[in-house]
Amino acid sequence: MRKQKKKINFEILENIRIEEMVAEGKCLARHENMVVFVGGVAPGDVVDLRVTRKKKSFMEAEAVRFHAYSDVRVQPFCEHFGTCGGCKWQHIGYDTQLFYKQKQVQDNLERIGKVALPPFDPILGSAKDRFYRNKLEFTFSNYGWLTNEQIKSGEEHERRALGFHMPGRFDKILDIQNCYLQPEPSNSIRLAVRDYARANNLVFFDKMRMTGWLRNLIVRTANTGELMVILQVYHDDQEALTGILDHLAAEFPEITSLQYVVNGKGNETFHDLPVICYKGLPYIHEEMEGIRFRVGAKSFYQTNADQAYELYKLTREFAGLTGNELVYDLYTGAGTIANFVARQCREVIGIEYVPSAIEDAKINSQINDITNTTFYAGDMKDILSDELIERHGKPDVVITDPPRAGMDEKVVAKLLQVHANRIVYVSCNPATQARDLELLSEKYDVTRVQPVDMFPQTHHVENIVLLTRRIT
Ligand SMILES: C[S@@+](CC[C@H](N)C(=O)[O-])C[C@H]1O[C@@H](n2cnc3c(N)ncnc32)[C@H](O)[C@@H]1O
Repeated sequence: MRKQKKKINFEILENIRIEEMVAEGKCLARHENMVVFVGGVAPGDVVDLRVTRKKKSFMEAEAVRFHAYSDVRVQPFCEHFGTCGGCKWQHIGYDTQLFYKQKQVQDNLERIGKVALPPFDPILGSAKDRFYRNKLEFTFSNYGWLTNEQIKSGEEHERRALGFHMPGRFDKILDIQNCYLQPEPSNSIRLAVRDYARANNLVFFDKMRMTGWLRNLIVRTANTGELMVILQVYHDDQEALTGILDHLAAEFPEITSLQYVVNGKGNETFHDLPVICYKGLPYIHEEMEGIRFRVGAKSFYQTNADQAYELYKLTREFAGLTGNELVYDLYTGAGTIANFVARQCREVIGIEYVPSAIEDAKINSQINDITNTTFYAGDMKDILSDELIERHGKPDVVITDPPRAGMDEKVVAKLLQVHANRIVYVSCNPATQARDLELLSEKYDVTRVQPVDMFPQTHHVENIVLLTRRIT
């Protein structure tokens, strides 16, 4: 029997007041005891809503008419706002963004964590609310997205685009004229590459047919002034590569690392492919308190470097280091926190899943003459073993900075077993952090909470929690 198509009921809810901002950047409203999630609105707006999804306990809707605009609204500064999915909170003042980020942390820790909490330190905002990223990745498309205005104009539009994916669309690329996320020369480089490629008839990629040549462009800036550009192409064409890369090198002599990747795979990830250094060095450096961090084409480095420095200073302060401690830095990435705290403690053990990140971590110790770090690559739940703890000793302090999923239950159990005096838990997801805090509450009290904003204009929030072992 043919499955019946589910009928969507585009019910209209009139004169609804938007109440607050909640998870994933959506706002919340209520209608007849039902919660309604709405995107693109602000707390205080009064709107008519069209229901796009209806479940037993909640609805999703979009605003179709505005009766009143909220006081917390500001004029978005970017011409692509509303089409590009990058900075969804640009229509809301930065102070209000910070208020809701802090609230998001508080709500999660109270509702999910259900542990006793001290008064929170006020969220630390980012000094820069624009141009704060040091890495952007742009995609080429031979069939760029047209906005409604462009379609309505009836004019012919250039479809060869270089920009960002439309929200939720792997195949639709919005051509970007100006982006406020990364400092210059990021915009100039992207526009120069796009214009050269158009003028020289280099073929932009077609994601549906998997044809074309130009795939993607990565620009990495650094606080040392060094600059990396990586061009990804679908197949090896040395003549075309020489043309476009020489053009870039001539136009932007400030590029210190010009690289390319030939990627014939179905996706744009290149962690398993060779990266060819065309000009300059194969890496750039970031710097913090005189410690230099080498960043290669495949290396991870916090994208808001200035605010990462603030985050790490707070993490170090929470760790309460006196020079004698054995510190375990779990989920160490490229060993940034481990190397950052190494001079203030006796020894640091860093553990991380990705082997190339661990190679970076070791190099970062070497180039800074840091000799009291040891790094291990592997899954945390296997590496953080009795054997490892026997070899290095029980940690005095654990710093943990897991991915969004939080810590594996086995890792939490191991932390309860080794019972370090302090655990500093850095998290980019307060919901999973709250879940782990509840598990850790068997032996630990939450003694400090400090939310930090790493990503202005988005709903993302980072949070640092200090856990202190209960004396029993
Ligand atoms: C939020 S990042 C931490 C970054 C690092 N602390 C920094 O500040 O640059 C989380 C890290 O955990 C690593 N990771 C994810 N799952 C893991 C696992 N099961 N075992 C070990 N490391 C893992 C990721 O590769 C990533 O580098």
